[in-house]
Amino acid sequence: MSQLRSVKWYGGEDRNSYIHRAWMRRGAPGDAFARPQIAVANTASDLTPCNMHLGEVAAAVKNGIYETGGIPLELPVVSLGETQVRPTAMLWRNMAAMATEEMLRANPIDAVVLLGGCDKTIPSLLMAAASVDLPAVVVPGGPMLTGTFRGVPLGCGTDVWRLSEEVRAGTLSQEQFVRSESAMIRSRGHCNTMGTASTMALITEALGMIVPGLAGTPAPDSRLLEGAHATGRLVVDLLRADRRPSTFLTKASFSNAIVALAAIGGSTNAVVHLLAVAGRLGIDLTLDDFDRIGSHVPMLVDLQPAGRFLMEDFHRAGGLLAVLREVRDLLDSTALTITGKPLVDYLDDAPIWDSEVIRDRAAPIVVEGGVAVLRGNLAPDGAIIKPAAASPNLLQHRGRAVVFDSIEDFHARIDDPDLDVDADSVLVLRGCGPKGYPGMPEVSNMPLPKKLLAAGVRDMVRVCDGRMSGTAYGTVVLHVAPEAAAGGPLALVRTGDIIVLDVPGRRLDVETSEDAFALRIPNNAMIAGFANPQRGWERLYIDHVMQADTGADLDFLVGASGSTVSRESH
Ligand code: FES
Repeated sequence: MSQLRSVKWYGGEDRNSYIHRAWMRRGAPGDAFARPQIAVANTASDLTPCNMHLGEVAAAVKNGIYETGGIPLELPVVSLGETQVRPTAMLWRNMAAMATEEMLRANPIDAVVLLGGCDKTIPSLLMAAASVDLPAVVVPGGPMLTGTFRGVPLGCGTDVWRLSEEVRAGTLSQEQFVRSESAMIRSRGHCNTMGTASTMALITEALGMIVPGLAGTPAPDSRLLEGAHATGRLVVDLLRADRRPSTFLTKASFSNAIVALAAIGGSTNAVVHLLAVAGRLGIDLTLDDFDRIGSHVPMLVDLQPAGRFLMEDFHRAGGLLAVLREVRDLLDSTALTITGKPLVDYLDDAPIWDSEVIRDRAAPIVVEGGVAVLRGNLAPDGAIIKPAAASPNLLQHRGRAVVFDSIEDFHARIDDPDLDVDADSVLVLRGCGPKGYPGMPEVSNMPLPKKLLAAGVRDMVRVCDGRMSGTAYGTVVLHVAPEAAAGGPLALVRTGDIIVLDVPGRRLDVETSEDAFALRIPNNAMIAGFANPQRGWERLYIDHVMQADTGADLDFLVGASGSTVSRESH
């Protein structure tokens, strides 16, 4: 092991070193300051219910660190509870990443174990770790166990959409709806569908940043603590081997993550998060890579939101490694994991235990899964759709636009009996991109008009510059770039325009002559609805956030600063 970074704080005989040591001594063993100082960056918070249990996970990690000669130091970092934080947790992802990066750099830390779970927590930790580039490994908090309501399993998130649509359609009473709340969240852990949290944990393992086999372990499962303990032991080895993110995360690692994303039928949010992490590492990952690498990968996992089962079933059925074994030929065998071994080395002994939940390659749920990247005169820089979550009959569709200038405008008018909309219409929602909202909320899966629900319509084409919850489904075109508030052509669409969606042809267009479209002027009501904060993080965010097609990071956070701190104030 080369000289520890922390020695620069503790190793001298001057007054500064005295101060650093004295304030941290507090009963530590005499040799504590010569040992590796390992941070446990913990996103546990009472306001992030999915991560509330991470204190116990941290304790297991710390035991492992201590046993192998390190000094564990718990570092609470910014935590984002997806269901709690307003206006949307995505507004704060970059702030959480920046704060974590700076605190890792500012402190006498040699390596870090990152504890996350709820949607934005693992992405922000990965972005921070990539930019500070200390040896780092993730322990995912794990999904919750399956809850049941009236004898039927409830997938948290996905079934909220389903049940609320049932209430709107008049087939479920309000009282029954409220009663299902306490059944949905059965245990500690994050959402148990193949939503964003599950997706991010699994593809982080595919990237190589989690001990293989650990992601997807349910939060209350004692094997999670065993894995946390083992990770605590491993991190000291990482330090000895100087295995930093920049030394083993490559384009091949991201290629494997994209294959995994497609094979598990993961959340579209992973696209924007992976692009942001790659940007921190200087890896040339583009939106088109998701289509090129992922769109021909078979989707093998039958989990909600598109399928039937939940994460507890997924883990029982063999988990990520069983999935990856089926698509082994599509993986890049050169990509290494945090252990120093290639990901593919972990696939020999990874059987499928339940082929209803995880299908054999020969019998996929969807022959070609993944994310399709669309371009056209409505999305010059790209938009995405998850075909596996869409209605096959709508993947090629031509319909009349019904346009909403903001989510508030949408809520005010969507259930108006006089709204001129039918099942063939295309619902267009704008003002929901990174700048316009701000923070690119998960609103793209717009609820359908009540009158159409009552008539039995269950899906329509929807187009939006926002994101979609990983637990949602439907024929939804999202992440349209540039967004309306950044001058994208979405701002110029009018109700009555004909929109053409052609997923096989990878196109999203409005039928109009280019000249006539270019002469249009955005309407004032829409512009007045775009966010325009005068100070604080929101102002900084709007001034610097990039578009979805490049990861929606702040422009000045792209890349890495490393872990060097050159000056000291004492
Ligand atoms: Fe935390 Fe779904 S709300 S993972």
